[in-house]
Amino acid sequence: MKVLILYDTKHGFTKKCARYLNDKLSESCIYELSEIFDILEFDKILLGSYIYMGEISRKAVDFLKTHRKILLKKELGIFCSALDKNDYLNALQKSLEPEIFYHAKIVLPGGSVKLEELNFFDKRKLKKRINVTENTEEFYPNILDELIDFK
Ligand SMILES: Cc1cc2nc3c(=O)[nH]c(=O)nc-3n(C[C@H](O)[C@H](O)[C@H](O)COP(=O)(O)O)c2cc1C
Repeated sequence: MKVLILYDTKHGFTKKCARYLNDKLSESCIYELSEIFDILEFDKILLGSYIYMGEISRKAVDFLKTHRKILLKKELGIFCSALDKNDYLNALQKSLEPEIFYHAKIVLPGGSVKLEELNFFDKRKLKKRINVTENTEEFYPNILDELIDFK
């Protein structure tokens, strides 16, 4: 089965998850959402996004809207990096069309923040939004594994 792994990332954690999946799969290709690829060549699509300020990546939402019809005919997995489970659930329910939401297998693989990579404003937003004030990493590879075998 040919698997297409797509991702959008700001600080690299979602890319790390995408690479983890790519390393585990035998017939897969991996692209950033901004690159050029043809989803028709693949049987299964695994899409990675992040959540910032309660929102999923715009590119991921646009991708799901643009390719809705094709995606509903394929196996679809979504991994969505976040540090707050409620934000993860709310953002997915708010941004995904119900058909996609119920068709896809969706997982939370964790999230990561390195304060030295953030500017003053992002640090302030992060503290206000989810009260994170120190470097944090939660990575759940066993949860990503659920995207490898599902039907
Ligand atoms: C400015 C900022 C805002 C964030 N907002 C949220 C949020 O609203 N909810 C949440 O669960 N995580 C939030 N996070 C945590 C990110 O989802 C987490 O860092 C994730 O790993 C980012 O993925 P990336 O490294 O692929 O960009 C935020 C992180 C930053 C830096």
